[in-house]
Amino acid sequence: MINSRETVKANDKSRVFAITGTPGVGKTSVAEMLRSRGYTVYSFNELAKKLDCIIDYEDECAVVDLEKLNTMLNMMFSPEGTVVVEGHLSHHIADTAIVLRCNPIQLKERLLKRGWKYEKVMENVEAELIDSILVEALEMCERVYEIDTTEKSVEEVAKAIISIIEGDIENEIYKPGNVDWISELEEKIDEIIRL
Ligand SMILES: Nc1ncnc2c1ncn2[C@@H]1O[C@H](COP(=O)(O)OP(=O)(O)O)[C@@H](O)[C@H]1O
Ligand SMILES: [Mg+2]
Repeated sequence: MINSRETVKANDKSRVFAITGTPGVGKTSVAEMLRSRGYTVYSFNELAKKLDCIIDYEDECAVVDLEKLNTMLNMMFSPEGTVVVEGHLSHHIADTAIVLRCNPIQLKERLLKRGWKYEKVMENVEAELIDSILVEALEMCERVYEIDTTEKSVEEVAKAIISIIEGDIENEIYKPGNVDWISELEEKIDEIIRL
């Protein structure tokens, strides 16, 4: 995971949408789908690299200067435009966060397939279980949505994101709190954490 040196609130971030969530929930896959639908979606990591905002590397993870990245974003894009950024830190530079969620049991399988160390997999599975990124997004962003992607195809997730970006959501299905792994998994939680 990329570490952040500090959390920055900018003056004008209303047009920046973040597609965020625990590693493995499907951010990069859905970003690719959105691009094929004509949306410009920046990868947080690539943007940070391109704009020379990586300060350091710790444990192979980039440490990003969020203040500089935020300033550069504001300089680059007109206030009228919509900017979409994907990455597990993207909520740090946006004011609308779309948090993708994935059932921790499925997430664990996906992260193990990545060949990650068990400890790193479990760190992320537990972060998903306890809503870590959602909580951060709620602290940092003015508007937060969460989408349970577990039973959705990448295309369905893309459709849900488009409905949020275009502002045509008719009901409150994506309001924060609609996902609750701890209640949903109940007695399986021990199993997820220990296995
Ligand atoms: N909606 C989905 N349904 C099933 N598999 C998915 C879905 N979205 C992503 N995946 C798979 O999950 C893995 C992680 O997806 P990725 O987009 O790399 O996640 P992230 O960018 O959030 O880390 C990939 O193997 C991808 O093919
Ligand atoms: Mg990714």
